[in-house]
Amino acid sequence: MTPVPPAEPLPLSPPPARHTATRARFDRWALSYDRSWLNELVFFPTLRLCQEEIVRWQALFGRRPFRLLDVGCGTGTLINLLAALPEAELLIGLDYSPVMIGRLTAKIGESPYAPKIHAALGNAEHLPFADAAFDVVTCCHSFHHYPHQPAVIREFRRVLRPDGVLILVDGFRDNVVGWVVFDVAVTWVERDVQHASWSALRDMIRAAGFVSLRQRKVNVLAPLLVNVAFG
Ligand SMILES: C[S@@+](CC[C@H](N)C(=O)[O-])C[C@H]1O[C@@H](n2cnc3c(N)ncnc32)[C@H](O)[C@@H]1O
Repeated sequence: MTPVPPAEPLPLSPPPARHTATRARFDRWALSYDRSWLNELVFFPTLRLCQEEIVRWQALFGRRPFRLLDVGCGTGTLINLLAALPEAELLIGLDYSPVMIGRLTAKIGESPYAPKIHAALGNAEHLPFADAAFDVVTCCHSFHHYPHQPAVIREFRRVLRPDGVLILVDGFRDNVVGWVVFDVAVTWVERDVQHASWSALRDMIRAAGFVSLRQRKVNVLAPLLVNVAFG
């Protein structure tokens, strides 16, 4: 039987000190995040990619109620969008920026789907959930901020059911355009970040115990790497 994830927002614990600078940047950005020009050009297309991948996963494993965890959820646009799906039973957005989580909490308050959406303050490296608690884990434009990426992938695997799916989207840095955008420009702006290569992600995902993986490059404003892994 699937362990039940917490139904109420989790206790707030501060992230480790090494994350403080990044978290402070996201706390500031959270106030204008939903008005960012990046939404139309990068983030919204990514959310649509996630929706498509969930539909594909349902086609493979059947349309049944699912529990989803969105790691590095920001203001929670993805989970608010998915909440309209009748099969979406429980949607939890986790982020380590208290201001992002505050924005998500405000949105939940206004949502007709409020009972099934929850906000959690926490670190991707130590997910505060039971093993096999979720059917779907999503992580969009957040992974390059994680200093211990293999540990995060292991956490994704741990909290997923064996027939669950991981959908991880981040910058594709394995061609010239991607290298300039992500390894040069984004790294210069965001500083302490690491965009994993196509092959590094493949190796991390396999090492964490996922049995199958599909990777593809998608061009929006910049190239993105979409990773879809099954338990
Ligand atoms: C660019 S935003 C992406 C938000 C959202 N996924 C989207 O696509 O709009 C990256 C988010 O990752 C979060 N983040 C960065 N490092 C994190 C960590 N170690 N644990 C949890 N969240 C983290 C940031 O606070 C920020 O909200």
